[in-house]
Amino acid sequence: MRDIFLRACRGERTAPVPVWFMRQAGRYLPEYQEIRGKADFLTMCKTPELAAQVTLQPVDLLGVDAAILFSDILIPLEAMGAGLSFVEGKGPVLDPPVRSDEDFKRLHPIEPEKDVPFVLETIKILRRQLADRVPLIGFAGAPFTMATYLVEGGTTKSFVNIKKMLFSNPALFRKVMDLITDVTISYLSAQIDAGAQAIQLFDTWAGVLTRHDFRDAALIYARRIFNALRPKGVPMIYFVYDGGHLLDLTALSGADVIGLDWRTDVETALKSLGPDTVVQGNLDPCLLFLSEDRLRERISEIILQGLQAKAHIFNLGHGVLPEIPPEKVKLAIDIIHELSA
Ligand code: CP3
Repeated sequence: MRDIFLRACRGERTAPVPVWFMRQAGRYLPEYQEIRGKADFLTMCKTPELAAQVTLQPVDLLGVDAAILFSDILIPLEAMGAGLSFVEGKGPVLDPPVRSDEDFKRLHPIEPEKDVPFVLETIKILRRQLADRVPLIGFAGAPFTMATYLVEGGTTKSFVNIKKMLFSNPALFRKVMDLITDVTISYLSAQIDAGAQAIQLFDTWAGVLTRHDFRDAALIYARRIFNALRPKGVPMIYFVYDGGHLLDLTALSGADVIGLDWRTDVETALKSLGPDTVVQGNLDPCLLFLSEDRLRERISEIILQGLQAKAHIFNLGHGVLPEIPPEKVKLAIDIIHELSA
């Protein structure tokens, strides 16, 4: 198996540097659009053959060093009793939102084998189809990010409902977070048992918290997940989007790898994280609009800074945007491999 991704996760410096991109399976690929034209997004997630097929597309077409399961962080919320839909042009909707003790009663723990069998089946198919070509990454949303979707009912700009619950009804906030944390532990545990060889925890919204509140309302729950999964022995990545002010705290999460968004360059991030950290990141996804020469310079800058870390996994600072030409994504991956070889 091409194992540079797993070796880098464990702190080994590799040549070349491994690369995979968040949202590497997605709408920018015509091959994805073709399947998506026949099935809606949730149907794709729940049909193991389709989910496996699109997971493999970037492996076959782009030459990435890891596959990431095609699914969504919101899938377990639906399994917990929340109503989930994806509305064209609006993004995910959780209806009705969870804002009171009464609402909370609708939620329940999950049994992954019974409630999300399609995710585990997709992982099993993928391990067979990947036949040890590259490792498979499983994932989940971190509790604060999941609670944000549940309580806001979808995407938000103000975060007023989740922060209102945190500050005016901390007992309910804790109940919601405890339940999501337990669900996430059993969900990721089942993914690992089914064959996921590394896992990433996405904390997309925790960056809206102050350092004080991040520690109390997000980090302790993420930490609980990493502690519980530690005995499983697979590498674990923690990605906090827009978390530049939180980096020294994320270093306390218990994850093996810290994912960086594009705002903080690797060199600056390492000052907060310490040089003994494995980092993943962090090209601004929009830099893929640059000309080839300029793109090469910016990639080179990140690779050089990555040499200051214990080990480096190349990634974008957030997901691939649908507007990026697929040839550019492939070019970036080739440049990363070439410059770090
Ligand atoms: O990275 C991968 O290739 C693996 C699959 C993956 C998806 N979503 C597929 C997807 C992963 C790891 C995610 C995680 C996810 N989902 C996050 C955390 C990462 C981040 O972006 O910060 C979040 C916040 C979500 C919730 C979510 N799902 C949003 C906000 C959206 C976008 C809605 C929109 O229309 O733009 C989705 C939908 C989604 N998830 C798509 C894909 C490929 C697009 C679905 C489509 O085909 O319409």
